[in-house]
Amino acid sequence: MDKNRLKKTIRVKVISMGNAETGKSCIIKRYCEKRFVSKYLSTIGIDYGVTKVHAKDREVKVNIFDMAGHPIFYEVRNEFYKDTQGALLVYDVTNRASFEALDSWIAEMKREIGDPSDMERVVFCVCANKVDKTSQRVVDDFEGHAWANSNGFHYFETSAASGNGINELFEKLFEGLVTAYENGGKVERINTTLGYTKEQIDAIQRLKNSTDDWKRLGLLPGASKDEINKAYRKYAVLLHPDKNIAPGSEEAFKILVSARTALLKNR
Ligand code: GTP
Ligand code: MG
Repeated sequence: MDKNRLKKTIRVKVISMGNAETGKSCIIKRYCEKRFVSKYLSTIGIDYGVTKVHAKDREVKVNIFDMAGHPIFYEVRNEFYKDTQGALLVYDVTNRASFEALDSWIAEMKREIGDPSDMERVVFCVCANKVDKTSQRVVDDFEGHAWANSNGFHYFETSAASGNGINELFEKLFEGLVTAYENGGKVERINTTLGYTKEQIDAIQRLKNSTDDWKRLGLLPGASKDEINKAYRKYAVLLHPDKNIAPGSEEAFKILVSARTALLKNR
């Protein structure tokens, strides 16, 4: 008999979290039922489902608690954080507020899970959802990835509509859950040391997202040639692609060079 067959079946509890309408239910439906519904049907309180999967030669019974994101359901969902081993943390890439709310979802979970140290035993998967809506996207992959990395969480770009990234997400989640079980519940956070600083991330964001060249260099309109060069040098040190391994630094460096050239030319 295959020795793997002797491995014990495990049971895990997975929850979904994130603002209303970000696509939590659709991600779960896409994985479990392989289909997508475009009409929005808000979850009322909690939806519950069970599925059986295989990961790392083990059978895993997954109890999924799909939470409602709307604040009015707080009293219902707060009961369900306890004993969680896996969490999908979902935001909508076309809605910045849903991305900015991720910290408050973590805070709510920490408050409700019982013992805050239980948070260490949860495998978190951040889902940047609705990536099919490319022209409406306002939170780019770099920003999402940086947030997930800074917390040591997995990061996935997903589309419940097209199915992109969904299998990869669940495979990684289940693999992480089995690994944690085999390590006595200990969850390995991924790459918590970023290798780059908050100042570098902010510089990249400013260069990529600003609406004009003055803002890109952090200057007020009409700043002098000296000020332009000083700002340029400051950013160049932060961003030079030879030194900076932060994702997006190369592109930001190119933006920096052309912003400086344009500002000096127009003087
Ligand atoms: P609550 O249950 O209210 O917390 O919302 P939810 O996060 O479960 O959202 P739900 O899955 O119901 O999806 C909300 C809306 O977004 C629906 O109209 C979906 O069809 C749509 N939607 C979900 N995922 C995607 C996606 O990947 N792409 C696109 N284009 N639409 C999506
Ligand atoms: Mg829902």
